[in-house]
Order: sequence, then structure tokens, then C-alpha cells
Amino acid sequence: MLTDGQYDALAPVRWPVRWAGDEGGRLFGQGGFATPSGRGRLVPTPWRPPAGRTDDAYPLVLNTGRIRDQWHTMTRTGRVPRLLAHTGEPRAALSPSDAARLGVTDGDLVRIESVHAGTVVRATVDAGQRVGELFLPMHWTDEFCSAGPAGRLVNAALDPISGQPELKLTPVRAEAVPVAWRGLLLHRAAVRPQGVAYWSRVPLSNGHAFELMGSDPLPDGMALTRFVEGLLHPPAGAEWLQLTDAGRGLLRVAILVDGRLEACLFLAAGDGTQLPPRDVLAALLGDKVTDAARPILLSGRAPGGSGAAGVKPAGRTVCACFSVGLVTIRDAIVANRLTSAEEIGACLKAGTNCGSCIPELKEILRDVHASA
Ligand code: FES
Repeated sequence: MLTDGQYDALAPVRWPVRWAGDEGGRLFGQGGFATPSGRGRLVPTPWRPPAGRTDDAYPLVLNTGRIRDQWHTMTRTGRVPRLLAHTGEPRAALSPSDAARLGVTDGDLVRIESVHAGTVVRATVDAGQRVGELFLPMHWTDEFCSAGPAGRLVNAALDPISGQPELKLTPVRAEAVPVAWRGLLLHRAAVRPQGVAYWSRVPLSNGHAFELMGSDPLPDGMALTRFVEGLLHPPAGAEWLQLTDAGRGLLRVAILVDGRLEACLFLAAGDGTQLPPRDVLAALLGDKVTDAARPILLSGRAPGGSGAAGVKPAGRTVCACFSVGLVTIRDAIVANRLTSAEEIGACLKAGTNCGSCIPELKEILRDVHASA
């Protein structure tokens, strides 16, 4: 057993460590494989059918896998706000025809069930998705989203040689989940919202932003107060500002601790078009709230503008390396008559670092030119 001090003083060790006292090295660092001859062996494995088979009860194939900006279970990449700017939640990709059959449109909630487990996630209608299959990213855990890990749904049948479960082929069924309201929560702390159909969290430099969705109508009276407390987890003694417009199905709450903005919550019935943009409020998290800034807390809007005053929103982030948004890219393509990802890179830098966004830049180019 090591003490914390001993653990902190440990020198880094590089895998593999092959025997006691080995200082570690690099796999294949000596050249060759770990066999007496040093040569690799190809082991033929007979094909066998997957253990999971779709049927009438579970007609879709669930495929799980990686997305471009996250690594494993996000223990490191999930701490970097920029890496969640492109994809901030684990969307289930459905083909347009499967989505239409289920009555699901882009951004709706969908329940996915296998014989092992079930979850509720938001859907993305993806023309590139094969009919009869759906894709879920593998990275999100209970820390980041109420949907939890996609691996819970996966068929645990193991490949006898590699030990891998059937991560790419689990029979599932899917159905639309009604959405009565949507919400935006900004909080200094990584709280766990209670009593909602769905939440997802992305870290900010000064706190956390949550997407919220509910299937039941918003409660009223004391039940609403308890519900809001379950979302905000307000510290004792917090100052509480609230605006409720039952007619329009709106609720806005801000809580201040020692005059600083601890959290703010916006809930709106319907499709969420009445929710404010995130950036104006996110910039205030943790700051002393001046009298001039107080109206912004409940309106969610900077004076004289819908977002950051006077600045056109850049749109959904496409290039995480250089924080370039969809609207900026589309505008640049039109204004400068750009025809390739290289030209977009020369104009906006997008796509000129890791290159992960280049396929999407090409898609945007095709789309802009097609609509032109
Ligand atoms: S996301 Fe890395 S270059 Fe665009």
C-alpha cells in the first residue's frame, strides 16, 4: 500500500514492464516481437457469426465507436472545453428513413433498449447512417450525461480470442421520447441535475453548461420550487432571483453567492427557441454581478443584442483547433468564392492543424455550392 506522498513521488514508468525491477521501455523498442524468434505470428481465427441477432423485438443494430475529439472515457479530453465545442453530447445517429419511421427529428430524444440495458439520448438524423443501424459514441459516462456509457447496452458475448465484446453489433429497439420542455443550466459546479428526462454537461473555463430536457410538463407551486432546487443544488444562504411566466411556459432563475453568479437556469416549454444563447451568461459565471448586469441574468441577453452585443454568432463549432463556427465558414465560402478545404484553411485557418474537421469542411462546401 502506498501513501499519497509515496504515490506523488513515484517516477513515471513506461509500459511494458516485463519483470520485477524492469524500468519499462517501449513496446517493440528492442525490435521484433516477444517470441523466441523475434518474429510475429499470424494466428488464423475461424469466422463465427455474431451472438446477437436482430429480430422483431430488437430490429436495429447498435454500433458503438469513437468520435473525432474524444478519447476513451473522457477522463482527460472531457476536461478541455474546446474539445467539446464540436460534439458536446452523445447523439444517436439514425438514418433518415429509420428516424421518419420512429417519428424522430434531429435533436429529439430517443429511448434505445437492448436486452441488457436501456438509455435515453438525443438523436441526430444522419444521411450517412446505414438503414437498420444506429451509432452511439462510446466516450460519455455518468459524469457527463444522464445517458451514461453506451457500453451498458452492448452484448457482453466475448470473442474467444481477443476478449472483445460485440461492441459493433448489439440488437436494440428504439422509440421517440416526448419532450415537453428544454432548458439551459450554467453552474459553477459539476452538479447532477435531478428529475429530468435528459441532461448533458460540458465544462467551461469558469464552470459548466448543461442541456436539459423534460418529458413531463413543468410542475407549479411548491413542486416547482423543489424541482428547481433539484437542478440547481443552491448553497445555503444563496441570493435567489426568479422570473416565472406560466402563460409562455418560461422559468428563469439566477442564484448569487456573496454577490457572485453561482448558477442560472432557463427553462422553456416547447422546442427551446425561447432559450437564450449560452455565451453571454457563461461569461458572467463566477463574476461579481453589478447592478447593470442584473437584468441580463433573467433576460439572458446583452443590452441591445441577442448574443454578445453587436457580434454575429459564429454558429456551431466545426474546427475545434481554431474555434471556427459553421456560420463563419459558410459566410467565408460565399463571400470569397472558396472551392476547397485548402482555401478555407488559407482564409480562416480551419482544418490546418489536426485536420479532423476537413471531412466536415468538404461537406459544408458541397452543401453551400449545392444550395447556391
Ligand atoms: S479541428 Fe483540428 S484543424 Fe480543425
